[in-house]
Amino acid sequence: MTPLPESERVLIFDFGSQYGQLIARRVREQNVFCQIVRHDLSAARVAELKPRGLIFSGGPASVYAPGAPKCDPAVFDLGIPVLGICYGMQLACQILGGEVKPSAAREFGRAHCRVTDADGLFVGVPKDTVVWMSHGDQVQTVNGEFLPLAATDTCPVAAVRHRTRPVYGLQFHPEVSHTPQGGLILKNFLQQVCGCQGLWRMESFIERTVNDLRQRIGTHRVICGLSGGVDSSVTAALLVRAIGPQVACIFVDNGLLRQDESAEVERTFRDNFHADLHVVDARERFLKALAGVTDPQEKRRIIGHVFIDVFKDEARHIENARFLAQGTLYPDVIESGASVDGPAATIKTHHNVGGLPKDLGFDLIEPLKDLFKDEVRRVGLELGLPEPTVWRHPFPGPGLAVRCLGEVTAARLETLRQADAILLEELAQAGWYRQTAQAFAVLLPVQSVGVMGDGRTYENVIALRAVQTDDFMTADWSHLPYELLAQISTRIINCVSGVNRVVYDISSKPPATIEWE
Ligand code: XMP
Repeated sequence: MTPLPESERVLIFDFGSQYGQLIARRVREQNVFCQIVRHDLSAARVAELKPRGLIFSGGPASVYAPGAPKCDPAVFDLGIPVLGICYGMQLACQILGGEVKPSAAREFGRAHCRVTDADGLFVGVPKDTVVWMSHGDQVQTVNGEFLPLAATDTCPVAAVRHRTRPVYGLQFHPEVSHTPQGGLILKNFLQQVCGCQGLWRMESFIERTVNDLRQRIGTHRVICGLSGGVDSSVTAALLVRAIGPQVACIFVDNGLLRQDESAEVERTFRDNFHADLHVVDARERFLKALAGVTDPQEKRRIIGHVFIDVFKDEARHIENARFLAQGTLYPDVIESGASVDGPAATIKTHHNVGGLPKDLGFDLIEPLKDLFKDEVRRVGLELGLPEPTVWRHPFPGPGLAVRCLGEVTAARLETLRQADAILLEELAQAGWYRQTAQAFAVLLPVQSVGVMGDGRTYENVIALRAVQTDDFMTADWSHLPYELLAQISTRIINCVSGVNRVVYDISSKPPATIEWE
């Protein structure tokens, strides 16, 4: 029998590092399943989870500071390999008998590292290699318990191995791209030290999840809210694969969608997947509720409420529905502090409009809650979702309402939708769509003067926004080629009636946000 991918589970102990998720990403890239857990997870719980290895993250504290996060020292007695990174290394060394001291100066940035012992972690790593340092304290001496494996000019113990236990430490950060051999070092830890084969594959994830879903759902029905975005589309596609017509997909057309979005969802889910798709035409209901409203937060509040009402009305028609499926991803789970074994840094401040309340009376199914976004995309492609769906930019729950500055009317939405469609089409054609994280048009609430023949016109202004970002918390504006901007502008002004001016937004976040409202 093939072993389960989870039999190669690696736990990442979170000591407050800004890089916890990055470590997890790097481990997953080696096809090893990993989870971020609390730094003080008990040794008994660790033993139950049967991980192949533990990685202690870095963290901002000094191991000597009062209240500095510690691990249960008994985890070292489980015989499970440990890799401590930065603070994690200092803590491991301190607990197991090394000496940690503040360094003369905080070290931050690139350093040249000389490998003195290539066994284990450094197999295949050049003797001289560049690493990324970011620390105040450092391990000073290793007191006979540990062997130094590498050094830099300022850090005599840049890497260590315990003499008798499978415990390793790195003073530098292998998870960041500034440590070019970092991926290899982590791979060595996972393969050479922990003995992982790399069993975590999207094909096996699908097979296993489909089986689990079938078992859990039995003969009941599941409701799945479809938004047209990647996460909900992949969730729906997985459920269709698992239980076919037992899943009812609800897609609410709120009239605030991008061009052809509703038709595309129908094509994919009804025509290709033969799903039980319920498209609710609620365009009028939303428009009515938004009439005369210009305040952005008020728009969000109204849209959120109407959405829940419309969704509930439709869900009532689905008999024998016991479960509600949601496209929650692993970063949402860790960021909201809801993971089984504890919170990592809580930084997410996203507006959760378009979401559903917890108390709808259904049991929740979240089949993607162990996956990162790029893994979700791989699952989507594997399940046969079309590329444009899999690579679609994120779209806010309140949709075009927060891009139609000022009052939201059917006519203004149509102007915006047409301009937006031209922008997206041109970006795709020029090969820029995938190079931007989000790109959209905004309809401004001002009229600008123009000239048409002999007369003056007062018409609408469209702002274009395109950004690069990894996490949507900070973002830079995309440096689109001038020719491309010119082409987009010309097409919008020629083809979208009522628009006589196009401007490009060159603000970064912060201080600007990605959306205009
Ligand atoms: P900002 O504008 O805050 O946007 O820089 C960051 C990300 O969040 C999205 N966004 C929203 N998503 N409901 C959502 O579901 C909202 O009300 C909302 N407002 C902004 C935005 O599109 C970007 O991806």
